[in-house]
Amino acid sequence: MLVGRIVGKTSPESFRFEVSDIIRKMDFIAVRDPERHMVLGRIDDIFQKEDRAIAEVTVIGYKDNRGLVQRPRMPFKPGSMVYSADDALIKRVLNLKQSGFYIGLLKNSESLKVHMSPKKLITKHLAVLSKTGMGKSYFIGVMLEEFLENNIPAVVIDPHGEYSSLVEPNKKREEIKYMERYGVKPKGYKKDLQIFSLEKNLSQGMKKLKLNGNLTPKEIFEMLPFRLTSSQLNIIYSIVRETEDQKRFTIEELKKEILKSKSRAKWNVLTVLDYLTGTKIFDKSKYVKPEDLVKPGKLTIINLKGIEPDVQQLLVYKITKDLFSSRKKKKIPAFLLVVEEAHNFCPERGFGGQAVSSGILRTIASEGRKFGMGLAVISQRAARVEKSVLSQCNTQVFLRVTNPNDIKTIMDSVEGATKGIESEIKSLPVGTGLVVGVIEQPLLVDIRIRRTNHAGAAILTDKKKEKEPDKLFYFPKFLELDVKKSIKKKLEQFKLIYYPMWRLSCKFSTKEGEKIDDIFLDGITGELVYFQDNMLKRTSGMPEVVGLSRKEKAVLLYLTSYGISTMGEISKKLKINENRLSKIIESLGKKDLIMERGNEYQSLLKINFEDIVKNPLEDDTVDYKHTGQLVDFKVSEKDTNKVLDIFNPDMVDRKKLYYPFWLIFYDDGRVDVVDALTGERDDYLSEGSFEELAI
Ligand SMILES: Nc1ncnc2c1ncn2[C@@H]1O[C@H](COP(=O)(O)OP(=O)(O)O)[C@@H](O)[C@H]1O
Ligand SMILES: [Mg+2]
Repeated sequence: MLVGRIVGKTSPESFRFEVSDIIRKMDFIAVRDPERHMVLGRIDDIFQKEDRAIAEVTVIGYKDNRGLVQRPRMPFKPGSMVYSADDALIKRVLNLKQSGFYIGLLKNSESLKVHMSPKKLITKHLAVLSKTGMGKSYFIGVMLEEFLENNIPAVVIDPHGEYSSLVEPNKKREEIKYMERYGVKPKGYKKDLQIFSLEKNLSQGMKKLKLNGNLTPKEIFEMLPFRLTSSQLNIIYSIVRETEDQKRFTIEELKKEILKSKSRAKWNVLTVLDYLTGTKIFDKSKYVKPEDLVKPGKLTIINLKGIEPDVQQLLVYKITKDLFSSRKKKKIPAFLLVVEEAHNFCPERGFGGQAVSSGILRTIASEGRKFGMGLAVISQRAARVEKSVLSQCNTQVFLRVTNPNDIKTIMDSVEGATKGIESEIKSLPVGTGLVVGVIEQPLLVDIRIRRTNHAGAAILTDKKKEKEPDKLFYFPKFLELDVKKSIKKKLEQFKLIYYPMWRLSCKFSTKEGEKIDDIFLDGITGELVYFQDNMLKRTSGMPEVVGLSRKEKAVLLYLTSYGISTMGEISKKLKINENRLSKIIESLGKKDLIMERGNEYQSLLKINFEDIVKNPLEDDTVDYKHTGQLVDFKVSEKDTNKVLDIFNPDMVDRKKLYYPFWLIFYDDGRVDVVDALTGERDDYLSEGSFEELAI
């Protein structure tokens, strides 16, 4: 199909054409070069110039008779006709393989299937990145089906327990109707799936997850959650130094040895070791071996749902370490390790510090390929995954990403990423991926429908969810040391508190469909909390607003959002008669919430609700637990309704959120409050009165 004619300056590498039919960015086009080769190109950009649409094309090349892709030698002739490329040409020039793992159809082609090579996956690592809800887990589900179909083993770290549904065939009608287009049929993989879980009452078919409790001293050190002081370290050293390096201890055995020590520091060490025992993930004799996890043709799911984040990291540390060492010794076959929510297991420095599992994942990322252990990292926050891990992933699947920091990380990590790709990633629809590293060219792929049921993390209808406490913790990213470093004055005392806030996840229906916004409320003062310029900000005056009658609220909000208005304008818009209105205005005036200017009225409320909703607190917590003091709520669940009255959402999910702050007590009696997520002094709290926090 003719889509336009070449115009302007051309070269063998690129040209522009005037568009005469409907085309999209990233479409493939075909054009003859002066030597009459049929050349494939791709549309990088389309723009309007006066009354003409112009497309910019990057030339990919043609296939010569030896089967090599060549660039034309001569620039294209202006006036040459540009066609949309047919599947055969695309397939030939791009050298799209028709075997391997079937992941979807090339976007805007008729029916070109895109495949990934299993060998490449295992030796080159994979990253799947997008914001939440864009199809990362769905895509991984597709991939795992292909692993199962091809009898290649894989192990999945599954923090949400969403991959167990690979046993069930896809029954969703809205998905089944697309299956024909993708050429797949519903299928479940019950026989080849094994699911390990720590839960006490295992559901049918699940296996108990216990790890080898005979640990080397190095492992024990690496698993300890906090920095030990040197005297504490010395206690352990004095014991293990006397034994040879490879000797293994159970925690209990080590504790017995430590008890014999005369040092007073031993009690703290015992407490820290108790932490490891308390995780209940180790067993001296009944434990899962790498050979149980990686078996030919088997897919293994490690279900970590409901487990404390720090224990999840421990599990990932120990499991992946043992798998890596077994694979090095060729005791288990080549396989792929899938790590969901990778930002929790190998966080970028500065975002949650080190996770216990960081080191081993870094090692697997850099050395796994040599030994046939592939790594797939999945994350909704590219910027928060350790760069040295991401940079080792040579195959990348991007679904929609909008956060500027994440985009930057992606652009920095993808070779040959163009501006076109950047804008593409920001606007991808759900289920379409930009796949980089399968062939030389980035490909836009409509990810195929799954054969199996997809249980997205959002769809948690089981009873366990209801029982979960509705408390949410944000853990500090800035630890004592970081804060101490930034403060030069002499300190008296240092304390971490968890400050109460309400997180009200509100669902609104808008023209574009349903939309969920989080609204945060200070649990003590009742002010709205939002995040701007790397600082927590609070509104001022919410309690007054909340105490108003419905009509008063309406008038105040009208003046706040529409600006200075006359009585007549307000009366007309809000349908309140002027008599009534003048009383309302009088009472608002008495409360100093509005001001009269001639016969017009102005709101004195400095709350921009829209701005506040647009700048919510970040929703990613660090999984680095830290003990601190919980501060009690003063704003009750019932109080939150009054605030919600203003927003009128369709539905609300209420959670108690605890936000970390460092309290710094100076010698001179002053107290500073430092936001433990941003490291910034919190002026609002520092200048408030916080005797009650100081206790
Ligand atoms: N390729 C796809 N085809 C059809 N629906 C999809 C596809 N990818 C994602 N979806 C839909 O989007 C939802 C969210 O996808 P999911 O993979 O759970 O997101 P996340 O990126 O948060 O892991 C899924 O429940 C599914 O309904
Ligand atoms: Mg997911």
